[in-house]
Amino acid sequence: MNKLSIVGAGMVGEAAAQMIARDELCGELSLIDVQGDLAKGKALDVWQAAVEAGSDTRVYGGSNAEMLRDSDLVVITAGVPRKPGQSRQDVLSINLPILDGIMQDINTYAPSATVLVVSNPVDVLTYRAWSLSKLGRDKVFGQAGVLDTARMKCFIAEETDFSARDITALVLGGHGDSMVPLMRYCAIGSVPLSHFLSDQQIERIVQRTRQGGGEILALKKLGSACDAPGVAIAQMVDAIANRRNRILPAVAILEGEYGRKGIAMGVPCVLAGHGIERVIELTLDAQEQAMFDHSADQVARDIAEIDAL
Ligand code: 2OP
Repeated sequence: MNKLSIVGAGMVGEAAAQMIARDELCGELSLIDVQGDLAKGKALDVWQAAVEAGSDTRVYGGSNAEMLRDSDLVVITAGVPRKPGQSRQDVLSINLPILDGIMQDINTYAPSATVLVVSNPVDVLTYRAWSLSKLGRDKVFGQAGVLDTARMKCFIAEETDFSARDITALVLGGHGDSMVPLMRYCAIGSVPLSHFLSDQQIERIVQRTRQGGGEILALKKLGSACDAPGVAIAQMVDAIANRRNRILPAVAILEGEYGRKGIAMGVPCVLAGHGIERVIELTLDAQEQAMFDHSADQVARDIAEIDAL
């Protein structure tokens, strides 16, 4: 990938920039923020760290939207994080106009760039970004499930004491308390999770995964998670930059899959060279579909709320 831009030089943007530059996932990386000097300072720091790691990715920082020009991929992390006790929806009224402005800039300077939305509430903002773009759903999507899945793997590893390397997990739905961990698709070394854990233990893991972001926020108090979201972004960027054809969960615009349309939700996708190559539609059992519908109803309500703002 020639050029990647990250809009938002907060903790998540910086963490993503570090991983992307260190792993040399693009030739040039622009870190853009309304606080131009902050972005410049962080860009220098990230660039110097990358050089120490043997990477030739050039990192630039600033506040000028023209820095987006010629981007192949734009990652949006700008906006306010929630405060302890707030839901991701509580920051919608602040983050929505910020996203709208960024999409205007992208449409001006990088109208054909792939767009990866990370700012919260990510499902709603991904839908909004896609609506404001002139692109297909293959090129506008969001990050949530890679992070939620990583969290679930941690909790499974803790509960079983097995290596997280052998754990596979899958989380669908909205990025919030209604997310849908699909335990039927979780395994350790290909052995189904139910072989090792009781229903009670599995339920504990599900609940902790749903509240994974909130748990960190309550402890850190002044900011939400940033390191794991940064790595999750880098994983998606790597899949695209290296045309890996990976199956990863992404917040995708649904066009009838899972019985839904006009909504963006976490679903397994094939990530290829330009973005989402296809959405994978799994057959859900009645209980899973009910959880998915509950989550989708919440996201649909939030999307409808945008009109009222
Ligand atoms: C999280 O789950 C900030 O939404 C992000 O930590």
